Amino acid sequence: MIKRILVIHGPNLNLLGEREPDVYGDNNIDTLNAEIIRRAEKSGIQCDVFQSNHEGEIIDKLHEARKIYDGVIINAGAYTHYSYAIRDAISAIKIPCIEVHISNVDARDSFRANSVIAPVCVGSISGFGFGSYYLALQALTEM
Ligand code: DQA
Repeated sequence: MIKRILVIHGPNLNLLGEREPDVYGDNNIDTLNAEIIRRAEKSGIQCDVFQSNHEGEIIDKLHEARKIYDGVIINAGAYTHYSYAIRDAISAIKIPCIEVHISNVDARDSFRANSVIAPVCVGSISGFGFGSYYLALQALTEM
């Protein structure tokens, strides 16, 4: 049973609401986090959120997560497309991770269509705006 989950937001996601609003929307990360936590609590799940612009901090957080959480939702931002170190961390921790993206990464620049973390995640959700996180939460609760 999934009881406690961690949501990791990677680089530049602290600028949600300001950053390319045509792609990522007008709402900020606090609004997103509040809604994720509200939905998680409604399902009886405790949810923590974490944002970092630094690869090593994300890796450290994934390592910590292995002893604390039953699942992870991760938007690794641009690291998605090239960080073998984050991929290896996800692979190492053995708790289910779901990859999310706000935008439809397959419909944008060609480099975004490749995810090096997808093969070590249980699944990937992309293109539903903030809804990608809510769908990932639902998927984790139903696992
Ligand atoms: C993103 C997509 C990535 O390609 C990009 O680098 C991001 C955000 C998304 O949520 O759509 O920073 O992960």
